[in-house]
Amino acid sequence: MKKIAKIAAFAMAALMAVSAAGCSSYRSVSDIQNSGKLLMSTNAEFEPFEYKDGGEVVGIDIEISQKIAESLGVELEVTDIAFDSLISALQSGKADIVAAGMTADDERRKSVDFSDPYFNASQAIIVAVDSEIAGPEDLAGKTVGVQLGTTGDQYCTNEDGESEYTVGEVRRYNKGMEAVSDLMAGRIDAVVIDNFPAEKLVANNPDAIKVLDTALTEEEYAIAISKGNTELVEKVNAVLAEMQESGELDEIVSKYIDAE
Ligand code: ARG
Repeated sequence: MKKIAKIAAFAMAALMAVSAAGCSSYRSVSDIQNSGKLLMSTNAEFEPFEYKDGGEVVGIDIEISQKIAESLGVELEVTDIAFDSLISALQSGKADIVAAGMTADDERRKSVDFSDPYFNASQAIIVAVDSEIAGPEDLAGKTVGVQLGTTGDQYCTNEDGESEYTVGEVRRYNKGMEAVSDLMAGRIDAVVIDNFPAEKLVANNPDAIKVLDTALTEEEYAIAISKGNTELVEKVNAVLAEMQESGELDEIVSKYIDAE
């Protein structure tokens, strides 16, 4: 009888610890190693960081994740899902890491932990080549396309009232490419998206669209990890530091960014 009460009390305490940590359920580094697989979720609509080439998901984030898996001595398993589902994939334990050109920001830090940053980026504006929009101030009153749940969406939606420039109407798409199609069809006036994907999208249609020079934000990409999984954060940071020091990260980046 006494033993059962003890077990119940222990279970109760464990449950409370989990909910105090924001309901995160995650696999420890040794759980990952025992399973032989590192589960990485991403949204492969973001060239050059993650995109589909044939049936395969490739890109800078995939190569970084590959290195992380190698350092843990396991295989990498990549799952491609909607961008705005990535954080819940971590929270529910469906993913160990998210590598998705994800900007480390304070809002997301409430739900997940981040590795050290590995890339500097910004939000860029894409317009038609003959557009009257020449800079961010011209976005006032205009209809702007963004990818749902991204920092570009946050900037244009401006819920906190902190964005320097405001837009007329925000249209949210599941894929950046869909926003660009609507821009080229004249259904929206501009697209706000991260600078490197913007360059890639324009490189495919240089006669129709262009990227404006002014950046709207300054952001840093980091790998997202379940809240509280400090051991995994440290492992990832060690891999990133190693890749930075050895020059390997630069090599990977230039392979995808200069390879036009
Ligand atoms: N950096 C932006 C953000 O964190 C956009 C990332 C989009 N990434 C993707 N794989 N679709 O919100």
